[in-house]
Amino acid sequence: MKDYFNVDEWKIIEEGFDPHYNQVAESVFSLGNGRMGQRANFEEAYSGETLQGNYVAGVYYPDKTRVGWWKNGYPEYFAKVLNAANWIGIDVQIGDEQLDLAKCEVLSFRRELNMQEGYLKRSFRAKTASGKEVEVEANRFCSMVDDECGAIKYTLTPLNFEGQITLTPFIDGDIANKDSNYDEKFWDEVSKAITNDGGYVQMRTKKTGFEVATAMKFSLLQSGEQVEFTSSPIQKEKYIAAEIKLKAKQGQPVTLIKYAANLSSQNYAAADLADRSADLLTIVSAKGFDTMLAEQAAAWAEKWKHNDIIIEGDAKAQQGIRFNIFQLNQTYTGEDDRLNIGPKGFTGEKYGGSTYWDTEAYCVPFYLATAEQKVARKLLLYRYKQLGKAIENAQLLGFNNGAALYPMVTMDGTECHNEWEITFEEIHRNGAIAHAIYNYVNYTGDEAYLIDYGLEVLIAISRFWSQRITFSAGKQQYVMLGVTGPNEYENNVNNNWYTSTIAVWCMRYTLQVLNKVKAADEAKYNTLLGRISFNTETETGRFKDIIARMYFPQDEKLGIYLQQDGYLDKEQILVKDLPASELPLVKKWSWDRILRSVFIKQADVLQGLFFFEDQYDIDTIRRNYDFYEPRTVHESSLSPCVHAILAARLGDVERAYQFYLRTSRLDIDDYNNDTDDGCHITSMAGTWMAVVQGFGGLRVKDGLLSFNPLLPGEWQALSFQIGFRGVLLKIRIAKDGVSISNLSDKIADVSLYGISHTINANDEIFIAN
Ligand code: BGC
Repeated sequence: MKDYFNVDEWKIIEEGFDPHYNQVAESVFSLGNGRMGQRANFEEAYSGETLQGNYVAGVYYPDKTRVGWWKNGYPEYFAKVLNAANWIGIDVQIGDEQLDLAKCEVLSFRRELNMQEGYLKRSFRAKTASGKEVEVEANRFCSMVDDECGAIKYTLTPLNFEGQITLTPFIDGDIANKDSNYDEKFWDEVSKAITNDGGYVQMRTKKTGFEVATAMKFSLLQSGEQVEFTSSPIQKEKYIAAEIKLKAKQGQPVTLIKYAANLSSQNYAAADLADRSADLLTIVSAKGFDTMLAEQAAAWAEKWKHNDIIIEGDAKAQQGIRFNIFQLNQTYTGEDDRLNIGPKGFTGEKYGGSTYWDTEAYCVPFYLATAEQKVARKLLLYRYKQLGKAIENAQLLGFNNGAALYPMVTMDGTECHNEWEITFEEIHRNGAIAHAIYNYVNYTGDEAYLIDYGLEVLIAISRFWSQRITFSAGKQQYVMLGVTGPNEYENNVNNNWYTSTIAVWCMRYTLQVLNKVKAADEAKYNTLLGRISFNTETETGRFKDIIARMYFPQDEKLGIYLQQDGYLDKEQILVKDLPASELPLVKKWSWDRILRSVFIKQADVLQGLFFFEDQYDIDTIRRNYDFYEPRTVHESSLSPCVHAILAARLGDVERAYQFYLRTSRLDIDDYNNDTDDGCHITSMAGTWMAVVQGFGGLRVKDGLLSFNPLLPGEWQALSFQIGFRGVLLKIRIAKDGVSISNLSDKIADVSLYGISHTINANDEIFIAN
C-alpha cells in the first residue's frame, strides 16, 4: 500500500515531485468529459518519463494483429485507442533556457485534482540551470458543458529576475501511440493554419479515415489585466505554434489562457471541422475561463447530487469511492450511443479496444442507479446496433441462422482481440450482454425495450448457445466444450460451470421474453420473428431441450459447482500457502504453470452465484465461496468487488470490507503496480457495486427496491443516493439504524430488511437497529 497522495475527501493531492511516480500521477489526475480525455501531462516541455495521452472518444485505429502462427478465424486487427493531437502544450522559454522540470531544480510541486468541481491544478516553483526562479500555476479542465472543449489557465511569475520570457502555445499532431504493433504513426495531416491568437491542425487516421480538428485560441494577461500581443507563427509538419515574447518583471505574473477544441468527423462533415472549431472557440473564449470553470463546477455539482457516496469516519475510503465515481462520470456521460467505456477510459492506451464485457457486467448497474435511464439504455443500444457485426463474427467462426457472438473487445462491433483463447473461447461475454438487458428491464421496468430491441439480441445470442453446445452421447446431456471462463488462468476447458450456467439462463430468459413480447405486442412480435426467420417451434423446442438436459459439473461430496471438468484433479493448494514473492502469478510464473495450477484469476463460479444469487440457497453460496475464494489470486481488478458483494451477502462484513479496500483505492495506491499505464475504470463501477449492492444490500425484486444494509465497523455511517423509476432516494446506514429519505415528489415503496415501507414524497423514514 503506497501512501503517495494526500488524503482529502474531495481532492487527490500530490505534494512534492517524484519523477519515478510521474506516470502513475498522470493516470490518477487524468481529466475527461465523455467526449475527450487527457492524462495529467505537463503543459510545458518535460523530458523525463511520461506517457503522453490525449484521447478523442470513438476515434481508433485497427492495428494489424501480430501473432506467431495465423489460424483461420483470427481477427485481422487489434483496435487501438488513439493518442491524438496534443492540445495542452505551452512551451516556456526563460531567456534562452527551456522550462523543463526534468532539467530544473524543483523547489516545490503540488498537483491537485478537484473532484468536486472537476479541474486539475498544478503549481510549482523551479530554478533553471542559470539560477532563474519561477512560480507556475496551471489550471485546466475538460468541459462537461462544452464537451468538445478544454481550457487552461497558465500563470508564470518570475521570482528573482526580470527579462524575456517566451510562451509558445502549440498544437502537435505528430503523435505516436505507445502501443503500436509496427511502430507506425497512425495520423496523417489534412490541413492546418495559424493566426496571431489561435490556429488548428486537422489530422486523419490511417485506414479508418477519422478526421479530427484540434484547434486553439489564446489570450494573454499581465498582472491579471488582458493585454494585446503579437505572436510569431511556427508551422511544421502536423504542428502549429505561436511564439509570444514578453518582457517579464520580477514578481509580476504573466497568464496565458488557452482554449482548445477537438472536433471529430464522426459528428460533422470533415470539410467543416476547421470552421466549426473556430466558431466554437469564439463562443467559449467569449464566455471566458472563469465562467467556463463556474459552469464546470455547476455541472459536477449536479452529478454529485445524484452520485455521491458519503463514508463518515474514514477519509481514505471516502476519497477512494469519490475518485471512482469521478472517473466513471468523466469516462461516459451517455450523450452518444456510439461510445462506450474502455477498461482504461481516457487514462491510457492499454486494452486497446473500447468495449469489453466489463460494460455490461460491471458498469451498467452504476449508470442505472446514478444517471438518467437513457444513459444505461444507450449502453444497451450500442450493442443492439452492433448486432449485425456480432452475427458476422459468429458466421466467420462457422455458426449460422442469425447466431450472434459479440466480440470480446471492440470499437465498432468487429472483434479486435487477437488471442485465440479469448476471441474464440471467452464466449461467456455473450451472456453478460443478455444479462444487462435483464438488469436494465428489471431495474427500470422499461419492457418496451424488449419489444423494440432486447428480444432480437436475446434470440441471436440464444441461437449462438444452441449451436455452440454439443450433445454427449455418453452423458446423454448437452455439454459445452473448449471454452475459457472469466478465469483467464484456464484455457480451452470443457464445461466451465459459469459459461454453461449463463448460456442456459439466457435461453430460459429468451423464452420468457418471447412470451412477454407476444402478449404485449403481437404485431411487432410477428414482424420481428418473420424478419429474422425465427422458427418458434423448432428453435424454442431446442432451447427447451438444452435447458432440460444441460450438464453442469459439480462435486456432491464438497457440495460445490466445479469450475470445469477436472478442476479437482489439480493439486489443491491455497493462495495463503504461496510465498508472497511468487505473486502476482502473472509476472512470476510461466503461463504453462499458471494454466495447470488451481489458482483463479477472478470470480468464475462466484461470478455466476453473484449474477444468479436468487437461484441458489445461502448455504450453496457459502460452500462455493469458502472453496473458491482461497484459491483466487484476484489478479484482475474486476475480482475483489464481486467477492466483496458475496461476502456481504453472507453477512461477513469484515471480509467484505477488506475486499472493498482493495478495490476502492486500487489506482490511488497503485495497488497492483500498474496504474502508470492507466486507471482501472471499469472495475471502479465494481467498487460502486461493492458499496451499494454489498454494504447497502440493494436488490430489485419484482419491481421493488430492497435493502439489506451492513455497516463496516470502521465506518461511522455510509450514505448513498440512487435513482429508481422516477424517485431519488438517499440511504444512510449508521450505527444506530438506517434512514431512507425520498428526495423526489413521488411516493416510494421500499423493502428494508425484508419489511415493506412506503415513503411519502420529500419524506424520510428511520428504522432503529
Ligand atoms: C480480465 C477480463 C476483463 C479485461 C478488461 C482482464 O484482465 O480478465 O475479465 O474483461 O481484463 O478489464
